[in-house]
This record gives sequence, structure tokens and C-alpha cells, in this order.
Amino acid sequence: MSLKKGLLPLIIGSIMMVAAPTYAAVTMKLSHNHNRNHPVQKAMEQMASRAKELSDGNLIIRIYPDAQLGDQRESLELVQNGALAMAKSNAAELEAFSKNYGAFNMPYLFTDREHYYRAMLSESGKSILQSSRPNGFIGLTYYDAGSRSFYAKKAINSPEDLKGLKIRVQPSPSAVEMIKLLGGNPTPLAYGELYTALQQGVVDAAENNLTALTLNRHGEVTKFYSVDEHTSIPDVLVISAKVWDGLSEKDQKALQQAADESMMFMKELWAKSNAEEKVKAEKMGVQFSYPEKASFQRAVQPMYDNLQKSNPEVYQLVDSMKKI
Ligand code: GCU
Repeated sequence: MSLKKGLLPLIIGSIMMVAAPTYAAVTMKLSHNHNRNHPVQKAMEQMASRAKELSDGNLIIRIYPDAQLGDQRESLELVQNGALAMAKSNAAELEAFSKNYGAFNMPYLFTDREHYYRAMLSESGKSILQSSRPNGFIGLTYYDAGSRSFYAKKAINSPEDLKGLKIRVQPSPSAVEMIKLLGGNPTPLAYGELYTALQQGVVDAAENNLTALTLNRHGEVTKFYSVDEHTSIPDVLVISAKVWDGLSEKDQKALQQAADESMMFMKELWAKSNAEEKVKAEKMGVQFSYPEKASFQRAVQPMYDNLQKSNPEVYQLVDSMKKI
């Protein structure tokens, strides 16, 4: 990761020429748990190519999809100690590493997609990305991950329908609390284990955006997707604080700009992919329903009061994002 800066003396015959300074390229591995067809891969490919361009060829980012380098939790641990440069996680998983990311896990926080974007791009959104520095990583940018809804072997029309169901959640305290308030039994599992868990009945239901049905093939084993849109939890691109600190200022700027641009590229990709994946899910035989959201909203309201008491700092972030 060290930058070798040197003046390369070229001696041609008796004439000594001094060439431009040369820098050793910095190669960074980036791990994520989606497959090559997922929009997040495409956003990252564009980020990698822009980072290379903006750093005059100095920054080389190699993307490892499909959790080849470990699931999100394992990748994050490697990022924390600098053994891995970058990873994509999401705000739910990151809450276990650094509390402020939990602000995004509050249900029914945003009124619409533009509100969600205003929050990610706000000072509060940016402060969350920086807040994890003491935990060994920094967030570079957010990626749209739509909104999350329940999918199961039956339609979920109200919290009543979740009673007694084992529902897979991400390893996130907020997700656990939300499912309990809705009457289900939260079962934390890594994403890679979920297909088999649904297939074998280890869990009865899960919740995610609809790429889970198609790109992760969960629609093969669960045929009802109920659009209650309880949360909008962004994916987060993170970099090891050690690696970041080892980059030159120019490379830091290049990487940050490339990451910012890829977030806006993802905004377009996501809208397009969401429409396409919905059609594909319907072709797989998944039935969509659109429950009344009010009963879900009422059930999870205590999360706001609990957070205000248990963590005023995170509550403050939630409150500011809500009003943005
Ligand atoms: C989304 C998100 C992933 C996450 C997954 C999950 O798909 O993009 O980062 O792993 O949800 O529910 O675990």
C-alpha cells in the first residue's frame, strides 16, 4: 500500500534526463455479497474505473462479488484491521459495528425516495459515514437499496400475519426490535444462508428489497411479496481507516469523487433495475400485495420513544433526517 515516489534518472549515453515522478499503483480489494448482475456491482465498476482515471492510473480497485472474501460481517472485520481495503455492507449490518448507522434502520423514516436521498446526502448522513473512524473504517458513500418489505409463503397483510413466524433479520439490534414489535420471532442470519433457510423452513419469512427474489432467487422458495416498505436501509461502501490514511491527498480526493459519482449512477441504475426485477419476479410466480401501512406504522412507533431514551445521539440524527 506504500507509495513509492521517486525521480527516475534515465541515462542515455552521456545525457542524463529526469523523467516525471513515478508512483507505485495502489491496488485495493473490494468485497461484496451480491452477484455480478446486481446493480451494486455495476455502480462499483464505474467507481473503480473513475477512481483509476481521476488518480492518473494510481488507484486500482479489484471487485470480489458473491461474498468470495467472506460474508459482510467477515469482510468488515478484515476491513477494520486493514487486511482488506474496502467492502460494501449496509446500514443494518454496520449498526453492530458503529451505532450511528442505526439511524437508517428506523422504520417509516422517509416519506419518499427523494427524502431518502436528501437524508443520505445531508450533513447528518455524511457525519454517520465519518462516525465509524474509531471503529477502524470510514464510509465513502451510500448506495440505494430501495425499501424493504416482507416475503413469505403467504401474504402479509398486517402485523397479525407475522404472529408466530420465524423471520430472518440481518444481525442488527434495530431489526430484531422491529420484528418483535410486529409480533414475529426475529432470527438473525447471514444473507448467504437465507435461500436454504427459507427452502428448508428454518425460517418462515424474510424482508428485503425485491432483488432478493430474482438476483438471489428467493422467489423460487417464497411466492408472496407484500409491499409494506417498512424500512429504506442503504448499502454503504466502506474503506479501512488505515488504508485511507495511507493514501495521498490526491488519491483520497479521486476516490471520494469516484464514490460520490457512483452513488448518483446507482440512483439511475436502481430505478431501472427495480422495474425490471419486478417483472422477472412476477414471471417466477411471485404474487405482490400492497397492504395498508398504518397498522405496521403503529406497531413500530415505540422504537422512536425507546431510541430517544436509550441513545439520544442517534435519536438526534434520526430526528434531523426525518425533518430534512
Ligand atoms: C440487501 C443489502 C445487502 C444485505 C442484504 C441482507 O440486499 O444490499 O447488503 O446483505 O440486504 O438482507 O442481508
